[in-house]
Amino acid sequence: MTDHGTPAVELRAATRTYGTGERAVTALDRVDARFEPGTFTAVMGPSGSGKSTLLHCAAGLDRLSNGEVVIDGVPVGGMSERALTRLRRSRVGFVFQAFNLVPALTAAQNVALPLRLARRRPEPGAVAAMLAEVGLAGREGHRPSELSGGQQQRVAIARALVSRPAVLFADEPTGALDAASGAAVLRLLREAVDRHRQTIVMVTHDPLAAATADRVLFLADGRVFDELPGAAGAERIALHIAHAQHTVVAR
Ligand SMILES: Nc1ncnc2c1ncn2[C@@H]1O[C@H](COP(=O)(O)OP(=O)(O)OP(=O)(O)O)[C@@H](O)[C@H]1O
Ligand SMILES: [Mg+2]
Repeated sequence: MTDHGTPAVELRAATRTYGTGERAVTALDRVDARFEPGTFTAVMGPSGSGKSTLLHCAAGLDRLSNGEVVIDGVPVGGMSERALTRLRRSRVGFVFQAFNLVPALTAAQNVALPLRLARRRPEPGAVAAMLAEVGLAGREGHRPSELSGGQQQRVAIARALVSRPAVLFADEPTGALDAASGAAVLRLLREAVDRHRQTIVMVTHDPLAAATADRVLFLADGRVFDELPGAAGAERIALHIAHAQHTVVAR
């Protein structure tokens, strides 16, 4: 799976602190990580260990305090807000636990939104094809309130993938779903990697979800302290997580 070309995303000594003085929190602490094209990485760790911060910084939604993020070969640190927004729209997809669809828009309009924001005209049939790919053919005209949670998350995934981004970030995409809908979402993500060489970085608390990834990174206290192949299985992943709750990472 490893590709020795340009990583889809790379973090170099990535550090993010919030606040100042006594209230300063180091949410990310000199993290080095490479996400190779066509690989599926899960990120796990206790609450507050820096998982969402890692995703937001790697996606260009938040800025590092120190270090560098390189998205698809482009260092983003020195970029203007405008240039970063443009890069994000064309190269990055993001899926949230809470779906974050626009309630007044139909499924098709939600999926077309990133293209419209990028002033790109969707190719005829592209939006319907994307919705069909996530198993929602025939639901183009439905509004989010007319869809189940699992269906809404699949619309959100279609929206994130429609611009064929270099990398898709997902922050607990199955966190708000029942087991069956969660499994459908995971299958969809796995297919995007296997069929389209999509790069995916997914935060999850669920060892079963993590086991569907190629690789699992374990975070504690803002640092990556270990990794396992997803093939190690849910049980070993769960043991690692239990271990992380008791790990004090040396600074
Ligand atoms: N905007 C912010 N301002 C101040 N502190 C923040 C901010 N965002 C995150 N933090 C702090 O940074 C640390 C890491 O937070 P982060 O949200 O990345 O954790 P997480 O691993 O995603 O946790 P969870 O599993 O609960 O979602 C926490 O101590 C948090 O309180
Ligand atoms: Mg989080």
